[in-house]
Amino acid sequence: MAPPNTKKYVADVVIFALSQVALYFAVKFILNSLDPLKDKKKEAKAKSEEVLGKLGIKNLKLNEYEEVILSEVIFPDEITVNFKQIGGLDPIIQSLRESVIYPLCYPQLFTSSSGLLGVSKGVLLHGPPGVGKTMLAKALARESGATFINLHVSTLTDKWFGESNKLVSGVFSVAKKLQPCIIFIDEIDAFLRERRSNDHEVTGMMKAEFMSLWDGLTTDENSRIVVLGATNRPNDIDYAILRRMPKRFAIRLPNEEQRRNILEIMLQDSNLEENFNFTELVNKTANFSGSDLKEACRNAAMIPIREYTRSHAAPGGELKDVDPEKMNIRPLRLSDFFVQDGSSNQVNISMSGSSSLTILEQERLD
Ligand SMILES: Nc1ncnc2c1ncn2[C@@H]1O[C@H](COP(=O)(O)OP(=O)(O)O)[C@@H](O)[C@H]1O
Ligand SMILES: [Mg+2]
Repeated sequence: MAPPNTKKYVADVVIFALSQVALYFAVKFILNSLDPLKDKKKEAKAKSEEVLGKLGIKNLKLNEYEEVILSEVIFPDEITVNFKQIGGLDPIIQSLRESVIYPLCYPQLFTSSSGLLGVSKGVLLHGPPGVGKTMLAKALARESGATFINLHVSTLTDKWFGESNKLVSGVFSVAKKLQPCIIFIDEIDAFLRERRSNDHEVTGMMKAEFMSLWDGLTTDENSRIVVLGATNRPNDIDYAILRRMPKRFAIRLPNEEQRRNILEIMLQDSNLEENFNFTELVNKTANFSGSDLKEACRNAAMIPIREYTRSHAAPGGELKDVDPEKMNIRPLRLSDFFVQDGSSNQVNISMSGSSSLTILEQERLD
């Protein structure tokens, strides 16, 4: 039998070993919970591998900042909007094709010794809210065939990644590796705007970095990268940014013809009554933006459906057993667009108001 102090010695060793194991896991747990960055980085890496897989690119070396940026890449199949769904902006779509898509994707068309031709490195879409700027950019992403980075400013300023500068250079180096590439910044007026006084220095540095890399695109003739911005408030954009976006497209509230075009697209699959008076609808929607029109159509389309469900509902308000095959919902009438909306007591067609205000801002830029 072992002497009692040997037994105690073994027990001590076992307790010590167990406590070390417990300590190891405790420290690991604490470190993990203190370092959410690790999970985020892992996530970014997984996402970037997925993106590269989708792009069909193998063996591309990326640093961790580039991996973060790669998660902002959008693929055509993730986008449902195409140019055909955009009404009234055909001339702008055509110009975008000529000034963005062709130079990016068919550079051989634009080679000239003078260097006069070529892709503009900055393109700006500006105009009041709801006229389809974001929609245009999305459609461009779908139809351009270029890599499309939908850059969120929040990604660059994410405090977990810190080092905004490295993320900014990640943007341009990823763009270069995956060119032709469009770097899209929606609401670009908010981009790099100083928000709080305490982060102003960091923002300033990030801005400087962004500008200098952007300038680098202009000097590098072979780069096929363009920065595309959209804004409701062109006058709030820093002059330094504006200067780098020489190609500007003003998108205004739709005129009569454009409204007709937009409404025709929006109502193309709707069941309209015979002799539906399109002209009157177009006339009565003066000063509507595309998104106001969308809302008006949506509200109007609800009316026949509401009528149907109400007339077929049991006293308790539940729909009685209706056969989906036999639901006959009446066609949409012009009057549906002008009906008092029972739920909000508002006339269906109402101006958002915001649009007319921002028009003034837009005029100032031109
Ligand atoms: N020209 C247009 N043609 C068709 N739909 C439009 C048009 N303009 C706006 N819309 C509708 O309004 C919605 C909002 O437009 P959006 O592109 O977000 O406006 P913006 O970015 O200019 O504020 C779109 O998703 C679309 O349904
Ligand atoms: Mg928008």
